[in-house]
Amino acid sequence: MIDTTIRRLQQDRNAIILAHNYQPPEIQDLADFCGDSLELSLKASRTDADVIVFCGVHFMAETASIVCPDKTVLLPRSDAGCAMADMITPEMLTAELDRLGQMPVVTYVNSPAAVKAMSTICCTSANVVKVVNSIEADEMLLAPDRNLAAYAAGFTDKTIHFWDGYCPFHNALGRQEVKEAKAMDPDAVLLIHPECRPEVVALADEVLSTSGMLRYAKTSDHRSFLIATENGILHALKKACPDKTFHPVSPEMICPDMKIISPKDVAACLETMQPEVRVTQAVREGALQAVERMLALA
Ligand code: 13P
Ligand code: SF4
Repeated sequence: MIDTTIRRLQQDRNAIILAHNYQPPEIQDLADFCGDSLELSLKASRTDADVIVFCGVHFMAETASIVCPDKTVLLPRSDAGCAMADMITPEMLTAELDRLGQMPVVTYVNSPAAVKAMSTICCTSANVVKVVNSIEADEMLLAPDRNLAAYAAGFTDKTIHFWDGYCPFHNALGRQEVKEAKAMDPDAVLLIHPECRPEVVALADEVLSTSGMLRYAKTSDHRSFLIATENGILHALKKACPDKTFHPVSPEMICPDMKIISPKDVAACLETMQPEVRVTQAVREGALQAVERMLALA
């Protein structure tokens, strides 16, 4: 019933529904496209729909608005935020650059649009190494995820200054927990997201973005996988590979902000065309350059 209402409203509005891989199963199942942060930005930049319903968190909807200013971007729940994105503001970045000296700034997409507007280039977990190595200077600041910065530092000769931000749900995962999960399932391939701490990432068989995990699982000859990222990805993995088994390394890797959108919220936002996410023109101009530089590398 709710699905029929959503489809009707979608047609009336010429809307596309995008969902991040961490969204609840019922949202992933009703979306036109699911993906990681990079894929969702690319999809938003290429759609000919008039309306983008972004089932994710605020910074993702902002990124869609930055790349498609002529479209209406709806975030079905305006309270869907990101704890990591809240760990940096333009004022904090200005103060840090005063302290370090001016240098290129690589900004993880999990950040406010006003911070992107001050950045040289954006990155996601899928392209961070490529982005860092695309910078001509030998020194840069990578913000706000210190764990992603530590991961990228392992694949470049450049000096990377870290910002002291993190995702509370990835950062809370400890080495011991991962080792115990692996001991219970020694044949499983261990896939870890680079938002985890470096000592955890060091245990991985593969370090991948959420869609990287999906691609890897689909093409791998292995049958069993241990997953260290937000547990919403398990639905996508099981759906894509019904003949393989996937277990979370921790039942606690759940981001509450990624779980608040319901099908009712999707229907309501299409009905009312609210809440809309839009960035100011001044912020958009700067942020667009940083996002476009990243997309050009994809
Ligand atoms: P990816 O889907 O790009 O790997 O991002 C993870 C994330 O934490 C998004 O909030
Ligand atoms: Fe932000 Fe972490 Fe939630 Fe991703 S999982 S949206 S980084 S708080």
